Amino acid sequence: MTDKPTVVLGVSGGIAAYKACELLRRFTESGHDVQVVPTASALHFVGEATWAALSGRPVATEVWESVHEVPHVRIGREADLVVVAPATADTLAKAAHGLANDLLTNTLLTARCPVVFAPAMHTEMWEHPATRENVATLRRRGAVVIEPAVGRLTGADTGKGRLPEPEDVFAVCREVLARGVRKPDLTGRHVVVSAGGTREPLDPVRFLGNRSSGRQGYALAATAAARGARVTLVAANTALPDPAGVTVVRAGTALQLREAVLKAASDADAVVMAAAVADFRPAAYATGKIKKREGQEPEPVALVRNPDILAELSAERPRPGQTVVGFAAETDDVLAAGRAKLARKGCDLLVVNEVGEEKTFGSPDNEAVILSTDGEPVPVPYGPKEALAHTVWDLVAPRLGAAGA
Ligand code: CTP
Repeated sequence: MTDKPTVVLGVSGGIAAYKACELLRRFTESGHDVQVVPTASALHFVGEATWAALSGRPVATEVWESVHEVPHVRIGREADLVVVAPATADTLAKAAHGLANDLLTNTLLTARCPVVFAPAMHTEMWEHPATRENVATLRRRGAVVIEPAVGRLTGADTGKGRLPEPEDVFAVCREVLARGVRKPDLTGRHVVVSAGGTREPLDPVRFLGNRSSGRQGYALAATAAARGARVTLVAANTALPDPAGVTVVRAGTALQLREAVLKAASDADAVVMAAAVADFRPAAYATGKIKKREGQEPEPVALVRNPDILAELSAERPRPGQTVVGFAAETDDVLAAGRAKLARKGCDLLVVNEVGEEKTFGSPDNEAVILSTDGEPVPVPYGPKEALAHTVWDLVAPRLGAAGA
């Protein structure tokens, strides 16, 4: 035994198994001991010799090899982390239902450490209600199921279902390893997250909008679901795939977003306003397209204020004891501006991001400081938006009273 963290890399039978070689390298090169446990079908894609050479350990797929060492129990027990990449629909189904007919599924049943699944499959399989329910079950139990990426699949087709890049899977694993077992501490809770950016129409073809991609809000929704919450995601103009196990409600404008958030918030334990809501909307909507006129300057656009949803939620708390979290995007004197905004809005926590042309928008990473009404600022180092999302839930969870309905 060494002091190095022990990682079990489960590989199930999909073409993306070749990408798991790169993931394996990242683990071994950063000081992890890795035991690869491929399924029999995984070996059709990448052979045993490759896994043994890259990991420096023998590999087995069945419980009948080295039986005297009781591998089906030992491997799971000794692991600090089990990551299954790629996780096929079949492996997710077996894990969700506790089947144990090979070494990997036995290992998943005996492991008491955090488990990360990185699914890869065709879009239809990922979207099938059976898979979605299996994913929701695994998340409810505390496993981290990473959302598949969108892009080219095995054949000529494209869609959601690609294994995320090895570096992204590795980043999630590192974060999970650093934090240890994460209990499903939001089980029985309803949380509402708003995401994306509102669009305020000027005429049928034009709008005032902003550059929010919605990724941080989606990360908040996915991580809350992973921690056991029932999640309503109010999404404004996002192009991201729906996170599995999350109810997604669409909203276009600030007024529509307000209506959807207030409706969902009526029985919510926590509301996180990650959406970039337009402060103003055009005073008038032109039902026909606004035309340019030769020799004439354009009419100035008159704007009116939109309601401040975060301030309204904070003042009214549609459900007593509700925790309300806001986001602040600041370009200058970030901390001072954040503190002033926390007081002005009246929320419990405020996640303050520094933004600029190259920062935050659309990027998978984020850096922030979280301010609260009753504690020290919590800095969140530069890292994946999921890591920031988990820190938000780490701060929200203890604020929630006895488990709700
Ligand atoms: N927000 C909201 N309703 C609005 C505007 C913003 O609920 N009409 C919420 C956002 O979802 C975010 C927070 O308020 O959680 C901060 O938004 P931001 O635009 O950064 O702050 P502003 O209130 O617009 O303040 P300023 O214009 O000074 O930046």
